[in-house]
Amino acid sequence: PYPYYASLREAGPVQFHETLLRGCYVLNRHEDMVAVLKNPHLFSSKLMAAGTTMPKELGEDALRYFLEPKSLLASEPPLHTQLRTLVSRAFTPRRVAELEPHIREISRELIEAMLAKEEFDLIADLAMPLPVIVIAEMLGVEPERRLDFKRWSDDVLLASAMQGTGKDLPRLRQSILDLHAYLESAIEQRRHTPRNDLISALVEASQSAEDGFLTPLDLMAFTRLLLIAGNETTTNLIGNGMLGLLRNPSEWERLAANPSLMPNAVEEMLRYDSPAQALIRLVTDDTEIAGHPIPRGARVLLLLGASNRDPRRFPEPDRLDVTREVQSHLSFGHGIHFCLGAPLARIEAKVVFEELFRRVRRVAFAPGQESNIPWSAAFLIRGPKSLRLT
Ligand code: HEM
Repeated sequence: PYPYYASLREAGPVQFHETLLRGCYVLNRHEDMVAVLKNPHLFSSKLMAAGTTMPKELGEDALRYFLEPKSLLASEPPLHTQLRTLVSRAFTPRRVAELEPHIREISRELIEAMLAKEEFDLIADLAMPLPVIVIAEMLGVEPERRLDFKRWSDDVLLASAMQGTGKDLPRLRQSILDLHAYLESAIEQRRHTPRNDLISALVEASQSAEDGFLTPLDLMAFTRLLLIAGNETTTNLIGNGMLGLLRNPSEWERLAANPSLMPNAVEEMLRYDSPAQALIRLVTDDTEIAGHPIPRGARVLLLLGASNRDPRRFPEPDRLDVTREVQSHLSFGHGIHFCLGAPLARIEAKVVFEELFRRVRRVAFAPGQESNIPWSAAFLIRGPKSLRLT
């Protein structure tokens, strides 16, 4: 997408796209996106709720899980503030930092199994399982249900990106029903017998909130968000990051020589090839952006991937530089909806690359792979579907 973003930039800061999202204003400059994200009342997140883009054919009983509950991602203050306080209590950076040794252990196991093969798929063997295993453990999901969890999570994402009906519809519907039946019984269990896991922490937070503030459906939606928000995005951070290093061998060498650069390198990976490429906002009153009038009711598409390559913000933006002082990339968003899972995603990526560098001196594309990377089909999210390496 980057040459396309550069051409948008040439054409000006705000462009109207006739067909995308049934017509939307597309932004490419860092400063304009920050201004939009700082003003959540004027630029509402309403359209970020998964259910708003799902086809009616999934059935009312499946869609109600998405349309009825309060949504952290799609709400504005004061509701957003109340909801965020509840989860951030259960999801503190300190709690996440305590997980580092365990994340390292899981990474090592996955890497050893992967390297036992002559040729491996970095995505299927490492980048995909790691975030699912970690979040499933945090939530308190039984290990034997992890594969179900991953399938449900993928299917919910697919259903939100679905155009029309299609042959997958019955399976997606079933996944949605199965996921929520699982969540409902897990929440019920924790109500009677709390454990040391995130679902219990959420149940406890809901019990200490005002009476009736969080319904059982709200609690399910919260748990589902934590399950889904971080899976494909973290997979793509690892996949895009590895791809960046493979295509820039000098950066690989610099990291190999100085692994303490890793936290900085992860920020640069996030900037260079953002796992989430865009956000959508709904304009609630007539306004203007960079001098362009934007009417109430319009949709605005924020191209995070373009903001991270904005030369007015980042000099030589198309160069991957693991020593770059990356401040204020927008890959985790900005303002009140800033990614709740950012500390977790950062630790996972740092640990995975540290462990890879500890074990691997050199890595190369498998034959035929370099010129033929299969990309995931999602519109707002970007990353390789598989990455075969030796
Ligand atoms: C919000 C990206 C990992 C949970 C966001 C937003 C972005 C983002 C761009 C802002 C959405 C908006 O403004 O509309 C990413 C990326 C990740 C990642 C690139 C990995 C590299 C995670 C993980 C979790 C998570 C691991 C949890 C386990 C959330 C939640 C929100 C959010 C709950 C909503 C926060 C709110 O609305 O207040 N993420 N995310 N994310 N993310 Fe992440």
